[in-house]
Amino acid sequence: MAHGQPHAHGAASKGDKRGHHIHWASHYDLFVRLFTFGRGGGVRRKTIDLAALRPGDAVVELGCGTAELSRRAKQAVGSEGRVIAIDPSPEMLAEARTLAGKEDADVEFREAGMQATGLPDECANVVIVSLAVHHVYEEDRTRAFAEILRILTNNGRFVIVDFEGPRGFFGKVMMTLLLHPKGPQIISEAENWFSDQGPVALERYTLPFPGLQALVGVKRPPP
Ligand SMILES: C[S@@+](CC[C@H](N)C(=O)[O-])C[C@H]1O[C@@H](n2cnc3c(N)ncnc32)[C@H](O)[C@@H]1O
Repeated sequence: MAHGQPHAHGAASKGDKRGHHIHWASHYDLFVRLFTFGRGGGVRRKTIDLAALRPGDAVVELGCGTAELSRRAKQAVGSEGRVIAIDPSPEMLAEARTLAGKEDADVEFREAGMQATGLPDECANVVIVSLAVHHVYEEDRTRAFAEILRILTNNGRFVIVDFEGPRGFFGKVMMTLLLHPKGPQIISEAENWFSDQGPVALERYTLPFPGLQALVGVKRPPP
């Protein structure tokens, strides 16, 4: 990968890692399977499809959790590609490392918040953020969005999958179970922010699970 080595980017500051961290890592995958009634696989497949990965791509996943998507991404980018998976929760990273080891998936892990990844500018041509933006405190989200653009190359693509309010009866029940009865409008929030940032081509997609959407953006070079 010709995108340079990660290094500390700027001095660490208070709040760089904060967010709603998940510490019950060994139960997370089971929770996802139960919560999605087996539809999680379809959401994962669609997320990877939207990332349009090619062999040799440099991928960063932010808020990776147990890193199922990073392992899938590594298969798609092959040995000449690179996948860096980031999460601030040491427990999630430990579980992710174990699962990657079992599959012999060469994913690199880093402990960081998505608002301050510590990665170099333009080190990735694909950034994936699945179900993690709503874990970032509201006051840190624009920092996290700006970080996505900073680490992306020109013409690089990002895929953000997250909640967009409860849709229909099933969506409302799910959101209430997740203690989000009103439903966060994360995709609209991201779309509003990115559409004010100059040349970023944006498209929204629905996902095969109620209340989940994806925002796909391509960072265009400045005119
Ligand atoms: C619901 S899980 C999603 C995990 C995985 N991306 C997936 O699709 O299954 C949310 C993850 O975001 C992480 N997280 C919390 N605060 C964060 C932050 N500020 N930056 C990045 N990730 C954060 C949590 O520790 C957790 O692993």
